[in-house]
Amino acid sequence: MKTAGSRRSNDWRNGADINLRKANVAMNQMRFTMFLCAILCGFQSASAQLVRTPPMGWNSWNHFACKVSAADVRAAADAIASNGMKDAGYIYINIDDCWEGGRDSEGRIQPNAKFADMKSLVDYVHSKGLKIGIYSSPGPKTCAGYEGSYGHEEQDAQQYADWGFDYLKYDWCSAQKVYRPEQMPEVYGRMSQALLRTGRPIALSLCQYGLDRVWRWGAKAGGNLWRTTEDITDHYDRMSVIGFAQNGLESFAGPGHWNDPDMLEIGNGGMSHDEYITHMSLWVILAAPLLAGNDLSTMTSETLNILTNKEAIAVDQDAKGVQGHRVTQEGPLEVWMKPLADGSVAVGLFNRGESQNPITVSFETLGLASKAKVRDLWRHRDMGSFEQTYTSEVPKHGAVLLRIQ
Ligand code: GLA
Repeated sequence: MKTAGSRRSNDWRNGADINLRKANVAMNQMRFTMFLCAILCGFQSASAQLVRTPPMGWNSWNHFACKVSAADVRAAADAIASNGMKDAGYIYINIDDCWEGGRDSEGRIQPNAKFADMKSLVDYVHSKGLKIGIYSSPGPKTCAGYEGSYGHEEQDAQQYADWGFDYLKYDWCSAQKVYRPEQMPEVYGRMSQALLRTGRPIALSLCQYGLDRVWRWGAKAGGNLWRTTEDITDHYDRMSVIGFAQNGLESFAGPGHWNDPDMLEIGNGGMSHDEYITHMSLWVILAAPLLAGNDLSTMTSETLNILTNKEAIAVDQDAKGVQGHRVTQEGPLEVWMKPLADGSVAVGLFNRGESQNPITVSFETLGLASKAKVRDLWRHRDMGSFEQTYTSEVPKHGAVLLRIQ
């Protein structure tokens, strides 16, 4: 006969058993989660180790488009390695669309005749102390109608690694015909994981024109950078609409994962000197990837000077890794700021208007003390100490880039 006391002790034992079982289940769940994390978080942290500052280099598309050949890529590598760009931080030589041939009988991607020996091209670029990038699409065809990676993701990732590539731009293009928009994170994640499985560090550039607020999920899908807009062109209107529209995206960028307002057009001939100064100043304030898009083998010293302004580049590459934002706007006159690691602030004064204008920045709006020292990063000159504000004349469509502390 069970006494009240023994019932109580059995109840206690049953309760303890249940608690023990619950603890075991919880422990197993935790082990499983840790196992998954070891795989997925490991993948994520491995890819996040790449491009801790915005990637810098060159891309073939803006100037060469589909005419690009291996000789053009070698010439770009030669130029970058010898004209001061490599010293200034330009490291990636990126082949865009139009290198692809068909696939062999085992499904392996082949380069077309213009890129007959991909391995030796990669080795050549590496021999210059540079890195090299390639391009594909998750769809059956690339934007220019060449072979995409659809159904061959693992194979292609392995092929890029075998050739020795360091960077992949993965461009949505015809993927819209085979996937729904909400599948984008999964589709990009698939390529990211295929790249990570190769064991070769390959930076992943997502290119889907900013669809579906990619800045919210791009990093989780394994992207190191993601295009936030449709294509840039070599016109002030297009460049400025894209660049100035980046305001508000700053919280999504940081070391290893950057917003990408598209490649540079500096030196391609469609903008004035002041407009290219705006292009470079805005891109460095935005902590944007700096991928030159001109023909490096024939550029003028004026273009080279803009591209290799080390004081401007230091703003882009600053270790704090913060994307800048707009502070004030008065009609076409805008002040932007980017906080820097040493406590100083980079400031862009932008005149989007049609005539020269003075633009004033107030130190208070930058969170600085009332007295501050100002350096002009295009004139390479200390302008002195100022109280409360600093004012500079800014030409039509031009910019003044400052460092204030
Ligand atoms: C898209 C991209 C461009 C370029 C081309 C190549 O338009 O946005 O940057 O890669 O495809 O076909």
